[in-house]
Amino acid sequence: MAVAGDEKRRTAARALWARGDYATVGDLVAGAGPSLCERVGVAGLEVLDVGTGTGSTALAAARAGGRVTGVDLTPELLAVARRRADAAGLQVEWQEADALSLPCPDAAFDRVLSTFAVMFAPDPGRAAAELVRVCRPGGVIGVCSWTPDSVFGRLGTTLMGFLPDPPPKGPSPLDWGEPAAVRGFFDGLPVQLSFHHAAVGVSLASVEDAVGLFEERSGPVMAARDALGPAGRWPEARAAMAALFAEADVATDGSLRMEADYLVALAAVGPR
Ligand SMILES: C[S@@+](CC[C@H](N)C(=O)[O-])C[C@H]1O[C@@H](n2cnc3c(N)ncnc32)[C@H](O)[C@@H]1O
Repeated sequence: MAVAGDEKRRTAARALWARGDYATVGDLVAGAGPSLCERVGVAGLEVLDVGTGTGSTALAAARAGGRVTGVDLTPELLAVARRRADAAGLQVEWQEADALSLPCPDAAFDRVLSTFAVMFAPDPGRAAAELVRVCRPGGVIGVCSWTPDSVFGRLGTTLMGFLPDPPPKGPSPLDWGEPAAVRGFFDGLPVQLSFHHAAVGVSLASVEDAVGLFEERSGPVMAARDALGPAGRWPEARAAMAALFAEADVATDGSLRMEADYLVALAAVGPR
């Protein structure tokens, strides 16, 4: 039963992330990857990027001299990542995989990274255990996740607030943006945790441009629009998204510039 349930969950997650055009949406926040690579150091090391999507962090690690493997549930996104690597002349191993059961040997990597991806795996404790299992003692895990108060954290909660049936109680992806919760996910595992706050600048032509881009190209926002459409609530939710972007706007020239805050959780892996 658990296996059938897992496959159903994976199929649903793949459909969500394959929708729209994640390459364009992900490129808006692609600055997080190089900055994580710089923080943990990757040159000459074996690096795994979990939930690589269209590959921005894996490609940043390869550019910085890592020997990189990028894994993701969604084959459509891996195909984009592969094309991008080929176009840039970068060598990366791409593999379809679930963060909850990585097809990698124990202690295979020196650096295990994830930008805005492990946060979406439904069982955070199991995901944390997998990250630790594949990282060698002496290695470092680096996970970037939106904080609940960040513009993208608030986007999720704002849109969910319009849904007639709130999602079942359980872990929220945004828990990965809170140090106390992350400590709980790694509880009992041989790691030393530290946390940093960072932000990635997101620039678009205007608030309206941003709203149009998210409603047409972001799988999760498109799913919210579908769910709210029949009750006629999408215009209200769309207006709330516009208000959120306008509130986050720090541009002074009429364009849109948002600083999207995120938490960087670092886990230094000790002997088992
Ligand atoms: C917001 S995107 C982030 C992609 C990329 N890391 C980036 O920074 O642009 C979330 C990614 O997590 C992947 N994902 C979601 N659940 C996953 C799981 N259980 N295992 C592996 N990947 C998963 C999705 O397919 C998607 O590519």
